[in-house]
Formats: sequence, structure tokens, C-alpha cells
Amino acid sequence: MHLLVLNGPNLNMLGVREPDIYGKTTYTDLCKMIEAHVREKGVQVTCEQSNHEGTLVDLIQAALGCYDGIVLNPGAYTHTSIALLDALKAVGLPTVEVHISDVGAREPFRQISYIAYYAEKRIIGKGLQGYLDALDYLIERYA
Ligand code: DQA
Repeated sequence: MHLLVLNGPNLNMLGVREPDIYGKTTYTDLCKMIEAHVREKGVQVTCEQSNHEGTLVDLIQAALGCYDGIVLNPGAYTHTSIALLDALKAVGLPTVEVHISDVGAREPFRQISYIAYYAEKRIIGKGLQGYLDALDYLIERYA
């Protein structure tokens, strides 16, 4: 089993960006945490991040035939991107939507998710643990 963890815009700034909301762990350390978490489970994981909507679409399209599932934190594109939704629908891979913060308790615009029209599960407001829970969900369900 090979899973893709895909992060959208500004998530490369973890650790620096609004630490009161997103915590002090860096993006590099998040990737290390993710790799360590799946290592003993016999599952391969690849972490990718982009600030560009089109690149995220390309990465989702390229996942077809390479990965068995996607853990996706689309960042702000969650709330705007029909293109990301369409890419997910096009490839049809099991997808878990993750948000570090509790988007439901923040500004009204963060409560709209285009990704939720496709994602089979959403993990919201559990901090970085949400990524690990999303991986466990896909492993338990599809490995
Ligand atoms: C986020 C929430 C989004 O509203 C925001 O734009 C992000 C991060 C989260 O992980 O909590 O960039 O997806």
C-alpha cells in the first residue's frame, strides 16, 4: 500500500505561521512524524506540498495508478477550489480531508468545503494528529 499526503498553500510555513492556531511543529517535522508513523505498518507514504492550485491538480491526477489513497489538507483551496474537487472525482481514490484547526469554529468562509463533496472522511481540529488518524483510517479500511 502506498499513500499520498498532500498539503496545500501555506502549509510549508507550519511552525512559523500563526503558531497559536497551527502549532510550532515545522512542515519538515510533520513529514518525519508521518513517515515514522507508517514505517512499522508496512505502508509506504509520500508527502507533497504546493502553494499552487494547478500543481495540486497535477499531483492528484498523477496519483492515479501510483497511490491507494490520499490524505489531503488543501489549505485555503478547501474553501474555493472546484478544480481540486473535480480532480479528486476524476481519479476516484479514497480521500480523507484533514484540517489542523477547527475550521467549523473559525470565520464563516472556512465553513464551506468543496472537498467535502468528495472526501469519504473529514478530520478537523485535531492538530497534526489528524494526519496520523487519516492514515490509520485508510490503512485499516484499504490495506
Ligand atoms: C487549514 C484551514 C484553512 O482554512 C486554512 O486556509 C489553512 C489550513 C487547517 O489545516 O486548519 O491553510 O486547512
